Amino acid sequence: MRFFLFVFVHMLHTRIEQLILIVLIFSRLWPRFTGIQSNLEQIASYLPSFRSVLEIQSECRAAAEMSLGEEVQSEGIAIRHALECRSVYYRYDATRPNYALRNINLSVPAFGMTAVVGRSGAGKSTLIDLLMGLTAPEQGSIVIDGIPLTKARLRAFRQSVGYVPQDPFFI
Ligand SMILES: Nc1ncnc2c1ncn2[C@@H]1O[C@H](COP(=O)(O)OP(=O)(O)OP(=O)(O)O)[C@@H](O)[C@H]1O
Ligand SMILES: [Mg+2]
Repeated sequence: MRFFLFVFVHMLHTRIEQLILIVLIFSRLWPRFTGIQSNLEQIASYLPSFRSVLEIQSECRAAAEMSLGEEVQSEGIAIRHALECRSVYYRYDATRPNYALRNINLSVPAFGMTAVVGRSGAGKSTLIDLLMGLTAPEQGSIVIDGIPLTKARLRAFRQSVGYVPQDPFFI
């Protein structure tokens, strides 16, 4: 400090009142500068979280409900005979050749209990998602009492479906 005073007063011939003014201005401005710096650091520390929120947002958009189109029915659809899969193919990644389900044909009779049994990864959950209309087959169709499940009937059909997930959680 003394050194700076010496430089200012003796070498730069600064007048003492000018020096006081400079010191005053700097002492006022300095907290502002440090404040701006700490704000910038804080913003930088939030950036990774912000990035991951954006990623989650775009993942959610990609996994959003498929468009339901025009709805023709608002009441639930009652199954009287059977819920069927006809030549159903489904794969999670359309760019790859491995299908989770390949040429599935089955009939789930109404008013009964049907169990789907198989090894882990066999495609049980995939099948159930298709039967519930949560996903749509790539080829083939889901048929309710002989009538294919179209987008127009999807919401009505879902009103008739109850679902207990594989990994339930309690709040
Ligand atoms: N979201 C997903 N993205 C990509 N592949 C998936 C996805 N879900 C399942 N798969 C793949 O699809 C195949 C069938 O999986 P699925 O979950 O239907 O099996 P599962 O019979 O229900 O198995 P588990 O008894 O373990 O529940 C598996 O090869 C699995 O790796
Ligand atoms: Mg499963």
